Amino acid sequence: MAHPLVAQIVDRASEPLARARALPGSVYWDPDLYAFEVERIFRREWMCVARVEQLPNVGDYLALDLVGEPIVIVRDDSGALRALSRVCAHRSMDVLEGADDAGTAARFTCPYHLWSYRLDGSCIGATDMGESEIFDKRTVRLGEFPLTEWQGFVFVNFDCDASPLAPRMVGIERVLGDIDLSSWQLVRTLDWGEQPANWKVVIENGAECYHHMGTHRDTLEPAFPHNSIDVTLSPGHEWLGGFMVIEPAFATGEADGYPIHPTFFAAAADGLSPIQRASTLVAGVWPMFSLAMSPDFVTWFRWFPTGPESHRVDLNVLVPPSAAAQADREEVLDQIENLLNAIQAQDAATNAAVQRMTHSPFSGNGPLSHLEYPIWQFQRFLASRLADAELATA
Ligand SMILES: [Fe+2]
Repeated sequence: MAHPLVAQIVDRASEPLARARALPGSVYWDPDLYAFEVERIFRREWMCVARVEQLPNVGDYLALDLVGEPIVIVRDDSGALRALSRVCAHRSMDVLEGADDAGTAARFTCPYHLWSYRLDGSCIGATDMGESEIFDKRTVRLGEFPLTEWQGFVFVNFDCDASPLAPRMVGIERVLGDIDLSSWQLVRTLDWGEQPANWKVVIENGAECYHHMGTHRDTLEPAFPHNSIDVTLSPGHEWLGGFMVIEPAFATGEADGYPIHPTFFAAAADGLSPIQRASTLVAGVWPMFSLAMSPDFVTWFRWFPTGPESHRVDLNVLVPPSAAAQADREEVLDQIENLLNAIQAQDAATNAAVQRMTHSPFSGNGPLSHLEYPIWQFQRFLASRLADAELATA
């Protein structure tokens, strides 16, 4: 049964852009709507959880709770990555209870009754189960979810019948052009922990640059003005992407008719097109995959909803091979980290403030600017997933 607020989302998403409005405030805190979103979106869509280089060796694992589901990403004995359930097949203990969230394991042994499992989830054995007529270690195993890799990113899906991820990535691959992030390296993680805002507040904030002139007036607006991006580059409602072209005053030169974006590292990535050399590319695939790519580094935003009014966020810095080899890499990364933390502090404060306001009956309904086209697209994504409503975005 669809939640009553879904009809309001569909109504709003059905309007043309020139008549688009913000969503009603209760959409951002209603617990029943959140439960419906988890069922219809987060238990059906591909979610990016890790980079392959975080798990380079057999036995490397990463445990996380994703919309309440306890999973462990692990590299098994064959070298393949798997997304296993952490729920012991015996009596539901967390097989990694008390263990580090990331580490290396030869096997998973449940700390409750010591049932043990291989890295592929199959059962090695259990003590004193010989008298059970129904225990068979050949059929006992940890649950498993679909996992796939795209350009070094690890995606999981809680729907065992999920359609492949690859078609969802075609748009973002088009704006990446010759760039393949497979060889890039995750070098820093800025953990911002749990934040007091609904996941849609965060997605919407991250999808538009209109707020640069307010929230980021002293950080992003001078170099990337609020109207510096072509927001219509990603038609439809499956992904978003746009090049934020650097203001000429902040450029380090000009080439092929474009300003040249400054870089922290001496060398930019190989294979950049003129507009990529000029821009920070903002690109993402809903519900939660989001990148900002400068010519010499990528920020991957890992957002997980944790409840109707909270989410977890970390910002992950990826660099191309040329930057990874640079001698003063750590000092340069410190500069990048300081910049990202300053911008994130502004966004986090804004998101928390907006969240507080959504409880007022005066919240929502404000007309959207044409620069907020991605928010209108996002409403259409929500309508498509929550109500199977396919709305034209022309
Ligand atoms: Fe922002």
